[in-house]
Amino acid sequence: MRSRPRRNRKSAVVRGFHRETTFGPEHLIYPLFIHDQPTDQAIASMPGCARLSPDGLLREVEAALAVGVGAVVLFPAVDDALKTPKGRQAHNPEGLIPRTLRALKDRFPELTLVTDVALDPYSSDGHDGIVAPDGRILNDETVEVLCKQAVCQAQAGADIIAPSDMMDGRIAALRDALDSEGFTEVSLLAYTAKYASAFYGPFRDALDSAPRGGDKKTYQMDPANVREAIREVELDEAEGADMIMVKPAGPYLDVIRQVRECTTLPVAAYQVSGEYAMLKAACERGWLDEKKVVMESLLAIRRAGADVILTYFARQVATWLKT
Ligand code: PBG
Repeated sequence: MRSRPRRNRKSAVVRGFHRETTFGPEHLIYPLFIHDQPTDQAIASMPGCARLSPDGLLREVEAALAVGVGAVVLFPAVDDALKTPKGRQAHNPEGLIPRTLRALKDRFPELTLVTDVALDPYSSDGHDGIVAPDGRILNDETVEVLCKQAVCQAQAGADIIAPSDMMDGRIAALRDALDSEGFTEVSLLAYTAKYASAFYGPFRDALDSAPRGGDKKTYQMDPANVREAIREVELDEAEGADMIMVKPAGPYLDVIRQVRECTTLPVAAYQVSGEYAMLKAACERGWLDEKKVVMESLLAIRRAGADVILTYFARQVATWLKT
């Protein structure tokens, strides 16, 4: 045998010579759930995650920064009494998100603040857009509200705005709205290829934001498709997105790869709540080794082509990488 590939695997040093993919805390964005209550509340289907109180959030962010995680994305659990059909609370400057952004900016000026734009946490219908009496999700009317939401978040200190709603034309509309208010430096991280996935279940438990009727298939993408993802990339790029996201991540590595190959923009991938819950559940039973399997899951997402990964494991992983 002239060729023995195992010679290139014979020691840690030799393996290190040709390792193609690496990752560190600089590649992670940490999603956090918050609520307007004095104590943290555990989320049953996401062991290790909680709806954080204002104090709990400050502690969690401080710990994440200490291990090198420099960006968080915030998701609010909103009181049912504040939910309306048009998600009015989404653009209330005294709402939970704007208040929290101001508090975080004040305390941690070096932290990069990412916010979610979509109506579902604020909507009495549990949809990302406004629901018409016949059940349709209204596109253009929704985009108008999303623009108010984004401007409100930018005013409160958001650095990166991440629309997860999947309405058509929202990237251009958000860019125009932000620019016309003077927020030319606020970035848009577009949830470009967001699939209508069953892996979002635990997230909807965490926020109590499941759709009250119907599903999200008229706006989120069909898991069977990839050409549709490319079309969304072309549109979001033309509309002014700064970064492109694929979501979920692990079951959609082929989509990440294809998106990586058709854009020069940074690509993000979201390891969603269901991916987290699956790994946690198996590890809690002792069926998988948590540290090894979590690292491998993130390495695979990077190898597929993601620059940055949104993951509920961010703080844990950064802690492991440090020790
Ligand atoms: C909704 C939104 C969802 C997630 C992020 N933003 C859920 C949904 O679309 O129903 C899911 C994230 C996760 O599952 O971790 N705008």
